[in-house]
Amino acid sequence: MFIEYDENNNISKLRECYYMSSVNVWNADLYDHKLSFVSSFGKGVVELLQPQKGEKILDLGCGTGDLTYEISKSGAIVKGSDFSGEMIEKACKKFPQIPFIVENGETFRTNEKYDAVFSNAALHWMKNAEKVVESIELALHPGGRFVAEFGGQGNVQTVIRGITEVLSQEYGINVAERNPWYFPSIGEYSTLLEQYGFKVSYAHHFDRPTPLTDGEKGLNHWLDSFADDFFPEFSKEEKMVIYGKIKNMIQPDLYKDGIWEADYKRIRIVAIKKG
Ligand code: BEZ
Repeated sequence: MFIEYDENNNISKLRECYYMSSVNVWNADLYDHKLSFVSSFGKGVVELLQPQKGEKILDLGCGTGDLTYEISKSGAIVKGSDFSGEMIEKACKKFPQIPFIVENGETFRTNEKYDAVFSNAALHWMKNAEKVVESIELALHPGGRFVAEFGGQGNVQTVIRGITEVLSQEYGINVAERNPWYFPSIGEYSTLLEQYGFKVSYAHHFDRPTPLTDGEKGLNHWLDSFADDFFPEFSKEEKMVIYGKIKNMIQPDLYKDGIWEADYKRIRIVAIKKG
């Protein structure tokens, strides 16, 4: 809870903003400055959501809150949640008018029911998809909608191939055991939603090659921000050496005209909770 004071030092407002309980550390500044494409691309998902004035909407995996804010512009009553305390702390500072909370997407429960649950570029971090779908279903009103984009089958497969070849061949590491991501096919994910009583009204699996900022360093920033689970025992210097080997291996596929382009493959989905 945030306490805000007026000019006479009296409590003027109690604002919901919980971020002390997280164990997950993300670099929220790097996320905002070098990886801002995450929320730029997400604006298309907000269009798919079509938020309406007065609707109650949960932004699940909101990061530093840019899309939560986009949704709020419609007049919807929106709340952002994320597993990372760093991200939520930054979101609270950027958008003090919006409530944000640290929450685990696999286990959260809500007292209030929502008209919509929205999520961009977050669900692929939640490997227990069944528990996530169960939590979303419980959070929605009958007739409420779930609108999401996340990595689909084949997402960043060239990057994963590079990581796998370097770590397994040169360091004897079992990379599959460390992979933190869930990238389902449309069939698999739609079936899961149907099992939990949703009607899938839209599903699209598409390629979206994504240019990374900072030229030659672009893939380093991406690996530093997103792929740390693969390299827990390595120092910063050792990681730079490993990144160099990965880059040598995959640059014929992903490095063009001085720019790294990640081989993103997205799923967009809209599902309605049956009444
Ligand atoms: C993605 O948005 O597809 C993604 C981001 C970080 C790691 C893996 C995938």
